[in-house]
Amino acid sequence: MQSTNLIFTDNLRNSLKQWLADYAPTQVYVLCDEHTNALCLPLINNLDSLKSAHFMTIPAGDQHKNVETLSAVWQFLSQNGATRKSVLLNVGGGMVSDLGGFAAASFKRGIDVINLPTTILAAVDASVGGKTGINFNGLKNEIGAFHLPKAVLFYAPFFHSLDRDNILSGFSEMLKHGLLSDEAYLGELMSLDLEEPDNTAFLNAIKRSVEIKADITEKDPQEKGLRKALNLGHTAGHAFEALSHHRNEPVLHGYAIAWGLICELYLASKLLGFPSQTLHQVIQFVKDRYGIFQITCQDYSFLYEAMTHDKKNDTKAINFTLLSNVGTICLNQTADKSLIDEMLDFYRDAMGI
Ligand code: GLY
Repeated sequence: MQSTNLIFTDNLRNSLKQWLADYAPTQVYVLCDEHTNALCLPLINNLDSLKSAHFMTIPAGDQHKNVETLSAVWQFLSQNGATRKSVLLNVGGGMVSDLGGFAAASFKRGIDVINLPTTILAAVDASVGGKTGINFNGLKNEIGAFHLPKAVLFYAPFFHSLDRDNILSGFSEMLKHGLLSDEAYLGELMSLDLEEPDNTAFLNAIKRSVEIKADITEKDPQEKGLRKALNLGHTAGHAFEALSHHRNEPVLHGYAIAWGLICELYLASKLLGFPSQTLHQVIQFVKDRYGIFQITCQDYSFLYEAMTHDKKNDTKAINFTLLSNVGTICLNQTADKSLIDEMLDFYRDAMGI
């Protein structure tokens, strides 16, 4: 089975140099966005092993994860002579690794990729597992491919420099990993200080989350079964995210997932007996750190519609990954409109709105 080399390093230059020396691609192409160009690239761009590399900067932001930017990356690779033996190094958050990963998956039917995630969200989610793609026709990640990176380099100082919102946005995916794995890791996560994180404890948790994600995606790279577990919190979470965009008040992905987890753990308790004590601990944790996403019953039809469009549904019913307990995953659970309304009522009660 193909797998990805996961490299945690506190010496980025040496680790990258070593990896390139071992892997020996004929040519290296480096993709970053305007932020990572300014803030992260200076750490590596004068490496001897990148002396003959080609560099490209794309605009930052999910609105640029589109076919125009993709085409510009194909042009960049083509005009600079990339071959099947070239490697593309993606330096950035999930937008860069999704789009760069798909450019690499499709260029000459596939060239190799290495990811250097610069956010916690990208480290624990997008950079690992090989989901790549772009938005199309107003739909998120509508076009894409599974294309595993050869390696992912995790450089802690990038994560320690993030602001509170970006720490929290990545953290909700870690909370999801805790719920999917075991009580001990969940407890560890819930006792972390997210306001003034202890760098060592936080980095250990990031490592654990990366291992959990890598383990799941190696067992089921193409999301035929187990990988669907990673959708916990995302059916409702994506609907909240869509509503926030519809209101022109976008929230960060990870915030929407934190609120989505509350909804879906409620369904888990109702349908599968997920422990109510843990549900209430998670509610308090999320409320204290992420605050409240305001909804009224007027929003229910928008949210329901958004959930029916989730591409994970393969029938008309809305598909959820749920848990009967921490670490006990139950895939392909479904809920009808009245249960979705009940879930949203519960969310509003839990949030006191
Ligand atoms: N982000 C979920 C997955 O990689 O499957």
